[in-house]
Amino acid sequence: MRQPIKFLILLVSGLGLLTWGAFLVVQETTRGWVERDLALRARLAANGASSAISAGFRSGKPADLRTVLLDVVRDERILGVSGCAADGRTVATVGIAPAHFGCAEVAPFVFHAGAGSPPMEWLHVEALRGGKVHMSGLPVSDESGFLGFVILVQDMGFAERREAQSRDFLLTAFFLLALCASLVTIVAVRLSWRGWTRQLQRMLKGGEETDEFRPLLRDVRELVDDIMTEREADGEGGAWNADRLRRTLGRNLHGEKIVIVSNREPYIHEHDAEGRIQVRHPASGLVTALEPVMRACSGVWIAHGSGAADRAVVDAHDRVMVPPDEKIYAIRRVWLSEQEEQGYYYGFSNEGLWPLCHVAHTRPVFRSADWNHYREVNQRFADAVCAEAGIEDPIVLIQDYHLALAPRMIRQKLPRATVIGFWHIPWPSAERFGICPFRVELLDGMLGASMLGFHTQAHCNNFMDSVDRYLESRIDRESHAVIQHGRSTLIRPYPISLEWPVRWLEGLPPAPECRRSVLEELGLPPDTLLGVGVDRLDYTKGIEERLLAVERLLELRPEFIGRFVFVQLAAPSRTAIDRYRDLNESVAAIAKRVNVRFGVGAYVPIVLRRAHHEPPVVFRYYRAADVCYVSSLDDGMNLVAKEFVAARDDERGVLVLSQFTGAARELTEALVVNPYDLDEAAGAIAAALSMPDEEQKARLRSMRAFVAEFNIYRWAGRMLRDAGRLRRRDRLSGRLSDRFRAAFREAEA
Ligand code: G6P
Repeated sequence: MRQPIKFLILLVSGLGLLTWGAFLVVQETTRGWVERDLALRARLAANGASSAISAGFRSGKPADLRTVLLDVVRDERILGVSGCAADGRTVATVGIAPAHFGCAEVAPFVFHAGAGSPPMEWLHVEALRGGKVHMSGLPVSDESGFLGFVILVQDMGFAERREAQSRDFLLTAFFLLALCASLVTIVAVRLSWRGWTRQLQRMLKGGEETDEFRPLLRDVRELVDDIMTEREADGEGGAWNADRLRRTLGRNLHGEKIVIVSNREPYIHEHDAEGRIQVRHPASGLVTALEPVMRACSGVWIAHGSGAADRAVVDAHDRVMVPPDEKIYAIRRVWLSEQEEQGYYYGFSNEGLWPLCHVAHTRPVFRSADWNHYREVNQRFADAVCAEAGIEDPIVLIQDYHLALAPRMIRQKLPRATVIGFWHIPWPSAERFGICPFRVELLDGMLGASMLGFHTQAHCNNFMDSVDRYLESRIDRESHAVIQHGRSTLIRPYPISLEWPVRWLEGLPPAPECRRSVLEELGLPPDTLLGVGVDRLDYTKGIEERLLAVERLLELRPEFIGRFVFVQLAAPSRTAIDRYRDLNESVAAIAKRVNVRFGVGAYVPIVLRRAHHEPPVVFRYYRAADVCYVSSLDDGMNLVAKEFVAARDDERGVLVLSQFTGAARELTEALVVNPYDLDEAAGAIAAALSMPDEEQKARLRSMRAFVAEFNIYRWAGRMLRDAGRLRRRDRLSGRLSDRFRAAFREAEA
């Protein structure tokens, strides 16, 4: 209900209650007054006639007394009067005498028989003939003592009339007040609405903003901006693709050079068995997402040269043009010594920050020697950025947890750079983040960026809470910014995605053919029910839980034994770290145990392929599968889930997805499960395997529409548009401060 209506209802109810209360108080008070007034009048009448009444009593003749009483009832409000002897005998009556209150009934009240105390006045109100009467019993005496008493009956009708009048008056007053209140409210609402509308119109036209409207205005502007970006200047609108992203870049950032920085490079040059140079595409969500952006925008990608043949292919500036056959953009390789890689990559990044940010029950390890390497390597990357930038204010996209310190380092050298940081993994709660001994330095390093992106709003909130707790700064929760030393860093959610359509699908045969070839490759019969999992061998991916869920399925639903086969493609990862080696062994042991337990003849329920698989192979498996299970224990987004959806242009297959992935917030038509709950996960796999085609189609169609719409070009477009806006603002404030400085100099001269 709208605010003013609520207020009016409250006001009118309040007034009603007040009026009713006032009426009760007035009624009680006037009734008291009337009764006191009538008692007084009775006393006056009796006193005035007391000598005549006494004479009437003394004469002993009722007729004499009656004559006196006739005189008393001349007062029109006195309806009747009786003269009574002290023993309760009626001596004479004139006018009305209520039947229950004759002389005999009243006498005990006036004369307390046997009590020896003096007689008392008796007062009483009685209903009579539809109205009320007031009765007084008054003792009559002369110098010889008490002679008897008189009962006066007075009309109270006038008091009732007065009560009715005052009630009517109050009711009228209430209605008038309620009416006035309603009118005042309506007028006030109309006036303020008009005022607000005028203010809003003024502000939208560029006038001064008021505090009241600032948040609303910001939302309206963002919405309008979103719509504008969606429509694009060329009026094309429609789906986001590489061309559209290029145009957005040109429009918002005037085609300025983009520099991407990450630890992992998009193309790794290796030697094959024969010593020939080969290009490998790493299994990395970051690379999957950003490579298409770089193809669209061109520029430089600065990354660690980790391939054995990387040095062999770079030019004198450590650059190599990629993709190998198209040469659209440059990779600038940064070389690291073994110790540096050990300390910065394996140590601080993957034994410290990685387990710190993922709730996956592996303890983070922080060594000061690793931290020193981390700092040095971040500086190395920052220096490479400054060397590659070529201008004072480049646009730099810094990717992930390996490079948290680089934004501040770049800012120190290029204060006017637009630095966008994107954190590809979850950001933990402030409490959890607090266990990092280098928390302040990390936060401060990140806040060198102009903008920081996370996959979800929850991660943004966790980051802001961490800043709030550990750093001297101001948090502007309204505009989602952290202000430190007069500079602000916007904190925004940008859920990452895939290119659409995925280029790896181009050369692939249709899904039924992929299925045939995969089953053949695995030596499986055509009616096999096939499940797939695709991951780096990482403990955050829940691979152990996934295989245990397969075991549970075969336990609970033996009808799947011999029919269901689960293929796990697991790319070895970070194998220099003990925890990863342990995981490798544990996964192999589980697969072996399940296979021994449920394998019969040639039937092997779990096929574990621990090797790097190039994207075309991975996509062939996606297309062959009846079910894809993504069971991460904690994951910023998880692009495997989106890849599976993208691969299934036949609209067949079911995605079973962990609730602990960012993707679960977007792909709501997946069967979302808690990967720790093996019964639930097994149930979901069973449901997926028996899901009717129509339902599979409906779910996939909806998820495909989502991924197609919210693709990586849109992700990058939104970030670059926001960066463009920041850039315009910074340039404007830069120009203004230059002008002020010039004016001061002139004034001094
Ligand atoms: C995660 C990170 C990515 C990283 C990937 C591969 O998905 O968020 O940034 O690229 O792991 O890790 P790696 O250590 O092989 O680069």
